[in-house]
Amino acid sequence: MQIYDLLKQDHEEVKALLTELVNLAEDDDYHSVLIDQIASALIPHSRAEESVFYNTIRAVDSDTGEVMHGYKEHIEAEGILRTLQALDKTDMSWKATAVKLKEALDHHVVEEESKIFAQGHRIFTAEEAESIGEAFVELKGKIVLQGGLANTFELVKNLMPPRLINKLSNFSASGRSGSAGV
Ligand SMILES: [Fe+2]
Ligand SMILES: [Fe+2]
Repeated sequence: MQIYDLLKQDHEEVKALLTELVNLAEDDDYHSVLIDQIASALIPHSRAEESVFYNTIRAVDSDTGEVMHGYKEHIEAEGILRTLQALDKTDMSWKATAVKLKEALDHHVVEEESKIFAQGHRIFTAEEAESIGEAFVELKGKIVLQGGLANTFELVKNLMPPRLINKLSNFSASGRSGSAGV
């Protein structure tokens, strides 16, 4: 399957979970289950999307504006998600933050599926889009198995210039701190 269809499938899944969440009553305990499901779907999707799709675009096209805007929106959405998780853990009012997350992601998905997908279609052949799709499935599976993020390096490494990403990955995998391995 081409990368676009795979990403779209994930978007539909997360959007459906968010719609279910915002339609719950504030005192419905099922919101905790949905927030966990949203985090489990969204984080691996975003990391794999950045690594495989965004970074491939950045590596081959000098026009990086849309992709960098996409990264920024990932960071913003995940900030709202972390707040939502914290509100849930402390039994505080969660509904307004869930609505905020839904609005942020609805906006991001519309832009991604129009602007970034269009850029992908300009750059990649159908065959290449299939290969990127395969890489996305493989990487997302690994991220799911490791439980989302191995450490905080995973969150920032995709924002680095392509020449530094491998160095950061090696550093991250080594589990060392300080300057060793960088
Ligand atoms: Fe996406
Ligand atoms: Fe995205």
